[in-house]
Amino acid sequence: MTPTETLSISEELRERFAQANNVLVLTGAGVSAESGVPTFRGGGNTTVWKGMPFDVISSAGMIARDLPAVWEWFNYRRGLLAVLKPNPGHEAIAGWQTRFRDLTLVTQNIDGLHQAAGSHNVIELHGNIWRARCFECKARHHARELKFDNNVPVCFDCGGNLRPDVVLFGEMLPAGAFEAAAAKAHTCDLCFVVGTSAVVYPAASIPEIARGASAYVVEVNPERTALSDLCDEVLTGKAGEILPLFDQ
Ligand code: OAD
Repeated sequence: MTPTETLSISEELRERFAQANNVLVLTGAGVSAESGVPTFRGGGNTTVWKGMPFDVISSAGMIARDLPAVWEWFNYRRGLLAVLKPNPGHEAIAGWQTRFRDLTLVTQNIDGLHQAAGSHNVIELHGNIWRARCFECKARHHARELKFDNNVPVCFDCGGNLRPDVVLFGEMLPAGAFEAAAAKAHTCDLCFVVGTSAVVYPAASIPEIARGASAYVVEVNPERTALSDLCDEVLTGKAGEILPLFDQ
């Protein structure tokens, strides 16, 4: 099957959008690009920090070897993200919560910008940079309350070392997150895949599950991805420009 590729929304998609009850949206770094968050892939943007590639500094091995370095890197990223605001793409998705009987938002992003735009109950597959969790008692704390002094912060409850509550390379997803997303993918009638290169599994399997369950799958991305051929419709462009068009 070859998907319809357009710069504007087809009549069929407008009709499906108007009739849909259960909608699932999967987002990736691209939905935050217009807010100023760099994507991981594409655009010649290979993230390197202090000579270390992203997948080295953000890895389970680095947590074991050098926790202070991981905190320094995450403090740096928190500093960059703290001043960024949601864009019209995040806002459009937040607005869909009241439009459909059931809207499930699944994100691979850790930046918290969907919540800042007003989205609730977001399934965060890769955690959230604004949370820390304790190695010892597993308590979670708001990272906004933590200092940026690059020492390893300690748990307010038990005094154990904290770590960023995000999924690092070589780690499992948070318990239940993928299962909850997959269950919704099985029952949705419309699935949007927004701003993800769809190469990281199991996140990339969510639209595949939706397609297998006969949902209409729509991709929103300026570039083709590994998933484009599976989609019913590909909207070629930026999330912040395309998503608000559904409400016009
Ligand atoms: P990628 O950086 O792999 O892909 C970003 C996608 O966004 C690309 O397909 C771009 O074409 C697209 N894009 C860029 N600007 C856009 C815009 N304005 N609107 C819409 N799309 C746009 O990011 P992810 O797919 O999110 O995991 O990466 C998945 C995971 O890989 C991340 O969560 C991260 C990384 O390893 C972990 O850190 C565990």
